[in-house]
Amino acid sequence: MRITYRRANNKDYWTKRWDDIPADAPMENLGVYPLKYAQMTVKNKEGKILEAGCGAGRVLRYYHDRGYDILGFDFIDVAIKKLKEIDPTLQAEVGDITRLRFADHSFRYILAFGLYHNLEHGLDKAIGETHRVLEKGGLVCASFRADNVQTKLTDWLTERKAKKNGNENKTRAFHKMNLTRSEYEQLFIRAGFAIEFIGPVENMPILYKFAVFRSSEHKQFNENKARAEGYRLSWFGQLLQNMLMRFFPDQFCNIYVLIAKKL
Ligand SMILES: C[S@@+](CC[C@H](N)C(=O)[O-])C[C@H]1O[C@@H](n2cnc3c(N)ncnc32)[C@H](O)[C@@H]1O
Repeated sequence: MRITYRRANNKDYWTKRWDDIPADAPMENLGVYPLKYAQMTVKNKEGKILEAGCGAGRVLRYYHDRGYDILGFDFIDVAIKKLKEIDPTLQAEVGDITRLRFADHSFRYILAFGLYHNLEHGLDKAIGETHRVLEKGGLVCASFRADNVQTKLTDWLTERKAKKNGNENKTRAFHKMNLTRSEYEQLFIRAGFAIEFIGPVENMPILYKFAVFRSSEHKQFNENKARAEGYRLSWFGQLLQNMLMRFFPDQFCNIYVLIAKKL
């Protein structure tokens, strides 16, 4: 386990992030994270889905528009406000994963992309809450920041940028938690889940941080576009990334995606 510290604390980071961009359009690309993994989990329209930490709403809107019974929540109210403005028919509300208002066994599926690594305290409690509100046999699909070379490099590059911008002496606050593959698996096993799938995923390849490796349509960084289409690299960038992922998947992924069943 490794903790990443930054200049802004986690909640301020997400508030600024969702304040800065409009609500997401429904995601389009079924072949990339996170929709690819959501599709591996949600097998049909029967059964309620909970999207925990729905953020700007790309996954929530994808399923809602297709008639699934999905409810999303997030602890950042500006994100929920923007979602309700863009589509008042969405089931979206402010909530915290460590204290869920739902009754036991309320959902067949829980999607939690990039959520749990935001918790400095109460990680076991949050996984316990996830377990509690799932039906027996229900599935959770969740990603977590990997503790590896890629995230260490990302943290180093961010730190270097902060120093360049003169923020060197600002106090540091909790940003995110990083876990190895087995630490992540154990978290769910401890809570009473059986792991059905776990794999290394490159949500945002490290090479995407450098414009030279991005696809021509992504040279000019546009977060909403990248969130809808996936972080697209040029053919050369993709070739390099494929090699890194082929030979060192656990070191050059930035997250692990896990699908687990409530026993
Ligand atoms: C990486 S974003 C993912 C957003 C969305 N699931 C997606 O894939 O586009 C993680 C989200 O978790 C939310 N979050 C962090 N801690 C939370 C908590 N304790 N309870 C609820 N949401 C939280 C953040 O505000 C953020 O929107």
